[in-house]
Amino acid sequence: MTKVLLATDKPFAKQAVTQIKAIADQAGYELALLEKYTEKSDLLKAVASADAMIIRSDVVDKEVLDSAKQLKIVVRAGAGYDNIDLESATAHKVVAMNTPGQNSNAVAELAIGMMVFQARGQFNGKSGSELFGKKLGIHAYGNVGKRVAMIAKGFGMEIFAFDPYIPREVIEADGVNWVGSVEELYSASNYISLHIPATAETKNSINFDLLSRMQAPATLVNTARKEVVNEADLLKIFEARPDFVYISDIEPGCSSEIKEKFTGRFFFTPKKMGAQTEEANVNSGLAAIHQIVDFFEKGDKRFQVNK
Ligand code: 3PG
Repeated sequence: MTKVLLATDKPFAKQAVTQIKAIADQAGYELALLEKYTEKSDLLKAVASADAMIIRSDVVDKEVLDSAKQLKIVVRAGAGYDNIDLESATAHKVVAMNTPGQNSNAVAELAIGMMVFQARGQFNGKSGSELFGKKLGIHAYGNVGKRVAMIAKGFGMEIFAFDPYIPREVIEADGVNWVGSVEELYSASNYISLHIPATAETKNSINFDLLSRMQAPATLVNTARKEVVNEADLLKIFEARPDFVYISDIEPGCSSEIKEKFTGRFFFTPKKMGAQTEEANVNSGLAAIHQIVDFFEKGDKRFQVNK
């Protein structure tokens, strides 16, 4: 019997798990659950007998793949797959996939929600500011960036986007101002919302030069990955620009220094919250199990990311 392991250190909503199990049952597969685990050894043990695995931000490195003697496919239920060692997956003949677009709205709503929360002084009772009329730069116009633009439009923000991989016409068709360089994007904006993946090229790429170009008052919104921001430069811009604010879905490595020195100018979620909605869990979880069934039953590799 084909065994699918659902390994989620940060568990899905109950409804998502129930629906994933129903699809697995229908296909005649066994679904094994490993939720909220704290020890890597638990994952190594659980993966040993799995033919397929669904994960979230759970790390699938060489050690995990070495233990996964029967594994043929791992599906990251979500967008970013920087938590999978793709080279090692390929070497182990394991197909790696993601489920693009399935949790985009949840992440986009969080980005805008954090902007409102911070603009209103984190609801501290004092006078804050509005998003209306402010300039928002969307750094990468993929599924999440596009959704952020759509919601921000409703707030009456002036929206700019930079994405070297998306044609100018696609961005302009959404009523968003296309800009041709990352420098222009930062120079045009009060708010920057990051939607770039964490790759060798993007890690540490949000640096002092870019951030210092932002219009005052400046807020950097990070629902992407903490690694894309250069943290030495982040501390530098906090010092240099008293108007600079950083709100991020997950704490940066230098959070204790920020908390100590820059009261009121930051907000960090304690655990990555972007995709933590029942809807996003159901969408991405179901996409993952369907992709696994289609892979085994029809050889469908459409969403493979380690080609
Ligand atoms: C993603 O890449 O899809 C998001 O960062 C969500 O990650 P999560 O599944 O760990 O919440």
